[in-house]
Amino acid sequence: MKKATTVEAKAKEIVKKHGGDKSSLICILQDIQNEYNYLPKEALLAVGAQMQIPASRIYEVATFYNSFSLRPRGQYLIEVCAGTACHVQGAFNLMDRLKRDLGVECGETTKDNVFTLEEVRCLGCCSLAPVVRIGGNIHPYLTQDEIPKILRNYRKQG
Ligand code: FES
Repeated sequence: MKKATTVEAKAKEIVKKHGGDKSSLICILQDIQNEYNYLPKEALLAVGAQMQIPASRIYEVATFYNSFSLRPRGQYLIEVCAGTACHVQGAFNLMDRLKRDLGVECGETTKDNVFTLEEVRCLGCCSLAPVVRIGGNIHPYLTQDEIPKILRNYRKQG
């Protein structure tokens, strides 16, 4: 019998915690995401096998929600809002500045694994545009000049 890897074992433990209930799939994926900061392939395969859910269905759910990632993410997720209100207020300049300062493209993670840069459609606080969310914290009315200090502060928090 194949020995379970740590990721498989953890995924099985999470499925068990939710009673293996198929209606809990999103919560199970959320717990795996919280554990690893992304959804490792090994974990998704283990969930599918344990719950008898086809891999295609799991990938469908995993790719539908923005909060899930199939690629490893850094410690802090930087989400640049590209919704209309933020776009009009210059969100693309913020994205350019972040790309330059972090040395990554949108969708990539910094070499030190601290930041992952992504673009999202409306964070739901358009009156504060332009908005960037970092590690779950909203940074309202953000200007390019504030970015270096903000990144430094997150790096300090480690
Ligand atoms: S458009 Fe950016 S928060 Fe809505």
